[in-house]
Amino acid sequence: MSTSHSPYSDLPQFPESMWRDTAKLPTFPALDQDIQTEVAVIGAGITGITTAYLLAREGFKVVLADMNQVLEGTTGYTTAKVTTQHGLVYDKLIKHFSEKEARLYYESNQEGLALIRELVGKHNMDCQFKEQDAYLYADNEKDLKELRKEWKAYEKLKLPGQWVESIPLPIPVLGAIVVKNQAQFHPLEYLKALLEDFIAHGGTVYEHTTLEDQADDHNGKLALKTLEGHTITCDYAVSGSHFPFFDGGELFFTKLHAERSYVVAGIPETSYSGGMYLSSGSNVRSIRSAEWDGQTVILYGGEGHKTGQGICTIKHYENLEQFGGELLGLKSIPYRWSAQDLFTLDGVPYIGPLSDKHPNVFVATGFGKWGMTNGTLAALMIRDQIQNKENRYTNVYTPSRFKLNPNSLKTLVVQGADTAQELISGKIDILHRKAEELKPDEGALVRYDGKKAAAYRNSDGELYIVDATCTHMGCEVEWNEGERSWDCPCHGSRFNVQGAVLEGPAIEPLPNVKKFS
Ligand code: FES
Repeated sequence: MSTSHSPYSDLPQFPESMWRDTAKLPTFPALDQDIQTEVAVIGAGITGITTAYLLAREGFKVVLADMNQVLEGTTGYTTAKVTTQHGLVYDKLIKHFSEKEARLYYESNQEGLALIRELVGKHNMDCQFKEQDAYLYADNEKDLKELRKEWKAYEKLKLPGQWVESIPLPIPVLGAIVVKNQAQFHPLEYLKALLEDFIAHGGTVYEHTTLEDQADDHNGKLALKTLEGHTITCDYAVSGSHFPFFDGGELFFTKLHAERSYVVAGIPETSYSGGMYLSSGSNVRSIRSAEWDGQTVILYGGEGHKTGQGICTIKHYENLEQFGGELLGLKSIPYRWSAQDLFTLDGVPYIGPLSDKHPNVFVATGFGKWGMTNGTLAALMIRDQIQNKENRYTNVYTPSRFKLNPNSLKTLVVQGADTAQELISGKIDILHRKAEELKPDEGALVRYDGKKAAAYRNSDGELYIVDATCTHMGCEVEWNEGERSWDCPCHGSRFNVQGAVLEGPAIEPLPNVKKFS
């Protein structure tokens, strides 16, 4: 049973993204035949839609396909900050790579920001696009030390920014870096406009179309197979899905890990003075405003953790409510939601051709929560790469770079150990619960028919029991109370209570054991 202790009586029972609830998105059919195209883009989030838009405008015949609905993945659940200020990133990049590569990371994301700004103007979009100052702040001595190192990196790289001693919010900070002319928007209104333009330029969209882990080469063409048994024959395939739909032997699940984070959208009691904010310590707090129903709503984000691991997920929402309540007061909370994002071993996304062996399959993933600029940048890079045009960022982001520096090696070892631990511990858990004992709106791992199973009873009393073994590589799923989903702690696959895949790398559902009415 849901155990929220929130004092807000109007709180929605189920999490729902404000972006998804307020944008009227079109729907599209599932692919039901074999087709041919020049480019197949898989994954209809910001990366996939922007890539499809740019390539269609270059005259390519493009098909865009998604395993769920368009914009139902992370893009529909982002905080939608459009900025080159990605937390404490530049100091790390200088240390792990070089000043040159750190500067290229900045310039490339600045190009992503500039393209978003340009397209908003070009298509005269009504998408709440607003220039904002972005603040990265420290409110304790430990974080201040790290923030000062980041400021040194800004100075070394000659990045636009300013050191300030206070911020416009009532947070007693010890220091902050402010970057002007950054932006925020309604991501789905923006992408809906790109989608419409894509279709007007001859693009085709399919929803509920899941690609298998295959991209066979047939006489210079790629043959992509759907789970439903249809084939997309194409010259180029672009993966804008989180885990690349085609792994090509690159073992992406060892080079990426999934994290969830949370957003609470609250109507404040006191006025908001503008700006976008991010705390620089490990207990991240992200703040920005938006417009909703004629009012200013503040989005409080943070509470990141590895998928399928950590405390009861409802607690994360409660922590953000408390933070927002103490900061500006909270009259009400019309929305709250969570998102999942992938992180690479070295903190830089993987963008470009999958490998030398598969030069016509392109991937873009691992944006580490900065998908607005990184996803747009990925679309620009892949547009150039498909046309064999030189792109000066190729080497920085190449998916096959995988530098085994001490830091990435450490991350790889930790992630591998984490996965192995989850594989073992999930199997030996002793279960005392029985499915029949579950109360309305309660989910738990139970013993059923002598085996471990994942059971949920909905508010109408219906009981769903599915196999608890993740169909990706066999870890045991965990109950996510906040989202009412089964989440895999190994590589972040998520399933709904009936077993359907919400997020990959898994593509097959959890087998249905039983549904009782
Ligand atoms: Fe890999 Fe579940 S996501 S085993």
